[in-house]
Amino acid sequence: MDTVIELKNVSVGFGNDLILKNVNLSVKNGDTLVLIGPSGGGKTVLLKTMAGIYHPLKGQVICEGIDFTTLTQPERYKLAQHLGMQFQKSALFDSLTVYENVAFPLKEHGHFSAAQMDERIKECLNAVNLSSSAHLYPHEISGGMRQRLGIARAIAMKPNIVLYDDPTAGLDPINTDKAVELIIDLKQKYNATIIVVTHSMNAAYRLNGTIALVANQEVLVTGDQEQTKAHPDPRVQQFIQGKLQGPLTFES
Ligand SMILES: Nc1ncnc2c1ncn2[C@@H]1O[C@H](COP(=O)(O)OP(=O)(O)OP(=O)(O)O)[C@@H](O)[C@H]1O
Ligand SMILES: [Mg+2]
Repeated sequence: MDTVIELKNVSVGFGNDLILKNVNLSVKNGDTLVLIGPSGGGKTVLLKTMAGIYHPLKGQVICEGIDFTTLTQPERYKLAQHLGMQFQKSALFDSLTVYENVAFPLKEHGHFSAAQMDERIKECLNAVNLSSSAHLYPHEISGGMRQRLGIARAIAMKPNIVLYDDPTAGLDPINTDKAVELIIDLKQKYNATIIVVTHSMNAAYRLNGTIALVANQEVLVTGDQEQTKAHPDPRVQQFIQGKLQGPLTFES
């Protein structure tokens, strides 16, 4: 299958607030899509809509050929196994250990024996370099380790599509680089399609994918690094150059 996620005329809102309006977007198998944009612009809402967590007001969200919006909640839940999501701020379970956090989606969705589950958890923890911290609780590990744990949990089911919501948030420049490298390595290892939200333009360029700006209820695909840097839209230039003055509105 060539296109793994497609949004057709998708609008998403809450109450009287329209967050995304008539969004059209298509992500091909094996692609990297990088979402940038001002805080409050709708990046998380877009990811959660792709994951079938938020239901659009109108339009179609087609994931691996199946329209999410026509499915019942249990059917959506089943299809969502093909998708792994690292939530913003990782959304870890504080009362579960590192090991148990990765076990969670496997118990929830999988049909694994205890031995298979143990093997899979160890593989994921090893992939993100957390094997020696398996017994610790989220409050006992650093911010960078928590981000990596969120990544291990997102890939536990070996999903075809992995959605990363701000995986470098709060990391120092070295750990930001390491997290980006990890995401690139895991993509290659599992042959996945990835969609990554980031506030770091360095990370956005390093991921070497297609960049899209989420702002003013729109998703504007700006192309690769060179195309984005040369993009004529003033919103793109304001954002990538980090200018205070310009057409973009930022949450205060
Ligand atoms: N469940 C919800 N109910 C009501 N409003 C929501 C909900 N989720 C998000 N919003 C609103 O949608 C808008 C976009 O939020 P979103 O979290 O997608 O921003 P973002 O681009 O991810 O920002 P950040 O970069 O700070 O993470 C905000 O105004 C937010 O308040
Ligand atoms: Mg967000």
